[in-house]
Amino acid sequence: MDAQTIVYALVNFAHDLFTAIWVGGLLVFALTVIPSARSALGAGPQTRKLMDTLQKRQSWLALVSMAGLVLTGLLQARQAADFAGLFSWANPYSAVLSLKHLLFVGMVAIALIRRFALRTSEDQPNPKGEKTKAILLYVNAGLGVLVLLLSGFNAALAG
Ligand code: HEM
Repeated sequence: MDAQTIVYALVNFAHDLFTAIWVGGLLVFALTVIPSARSALGAGPQTRKLMDTLQKRQSWLALVSMAGLVLTGLLQARQAADFAGLFSWANPYSAVLSLKHLLFVGMVAIALIRRFALRTSEDQPNPKGEKTKAILLYVNAGLGVLVLLLSGFNAALAG
């Protein structure tokens, strides 16, 4: 196996790993952590403390994964014969990838708003902020699933 194949395999691996950490994290929070915390601990300070601790840890992993997805994604795109440039709509492959990038930008914006604009803390109840944060998490989990769908089409359209 030549060096280029090994490097490309490692880039794909890293892209999939960052996907698993970020989008997988969003889905586990939306489908398991939030409902379980609420049913086990109710909507009081214990749940706020647990969610704050979990989200502080996960949001760093998510930020690293976002940067990693851009880096590995650009390296993958360079390898793709049909890649006609960022946000190009010149062919079906590039159009699907551009749509994916638009969703990706939306996901990053939502993640940064949740992290920096909607700060909640365990000792200051902020039911409205916490509700908005939870809704945005579900929106981002949904966008993540759409990005995975588009990635599958990209792989199928790859020349
Ligand atoms: C939430 C963000 C992202 C997710 C969840 C994601 C997910 C994936 C997955 C799962 C694949 C593998 C598809 C397969 O082989 O079955 C893939 C491929 C790819 N991704 Fe991403 N990706 C994301 C962001 C990006 C970004 C930001 C870029 C570019 C800057 C990018 C560019 C690519 C490219 C070029 C491929 C290869 C498609 C091919 O030719 O087979 N991705 N992505």
